Amino acid sequence: MNEKQLAGERASDYIKDGMVVGLGTGSTAYYMLKALAQRVQEGLSIKGVATSQATTDLANKWGIPLVSIDDVSHIDVTIDGADEVDDHLNGIKGGGGALLYEKVVAKASKEVIWIVDAKKKVKTLGAFPLPIEVLPFGASHSIALFEQKGLQPQLRRSDEEIFITDSGHYIVDIQLPQDENVEAFAAWLDTLTGVIEHGLFLNMAHTLIVGEGDQVRIYKK
Ligand code: A5P
Repeated sequence: MNEKQLAGERASDYIKDGMVVGLGTGSTAYYMLKALAQRVQEGLSIKGVATSQATTDLANKWGIPLVSIDDVSHIDVTIDGADEVDDHLNGIKGGGGALLYEKVVAKASKEVIWIVDAKKKVKTLGAFPLPIEVLPFGASHSIALFEQKGLQPQLRRSDEEIFITDSGHYIVDIQLPQDENVEAFAAWLDTLTGVIEHGLFLNMAHTLIVGEGDQVRIYKK
């Protein structure tokens, strides 16, 4: 079993009968969804809130009942992947482009669990490019600002076409400056007009499940 599968399957154990569950996006969340679908088939009763169209499609295909985020008062637990996670359980997300809905769902959740393979557990965030979701209107000006700040922006493309998020925005991947205080950098990004959201998820995860070799390691905030 690969590390993503180990982490994803273990995470499904945290889901209990009656819960509203935030369903993450990506290749690690895939294994959690598969394990969850199996449990639903065996009689587990939950409602899922999907963080992307891709996850909605998988949930529908596998018979996981979904509910709109606007039809629930809260989410009990959200299980999602991440691109990098440090020792404080701060992370970078958005490698798959779903960061906006993922952050909205995480913020509405009582508990957030991340599932990763071992290489994503890092001492310092920033080797993975930081995804920034920007408004298409004026995107060239957002990119120019990042360029001016030395952040090496790259407008994300998919098969030569500009990548469009589920909510109709662009993604610009930037390099997190070395030795940057991530809280301060996230706060600066939050001030920028045209920036819809960014992939720094700080103080959001409560639990990290890491698949490491043939073991699972669990870290708590
Ligand atoms: C989706 O936009 C991301 O935030 C994913 O959660 C993250 O990229 C992890 O994806 P994988 O599990 O596919 O590596």
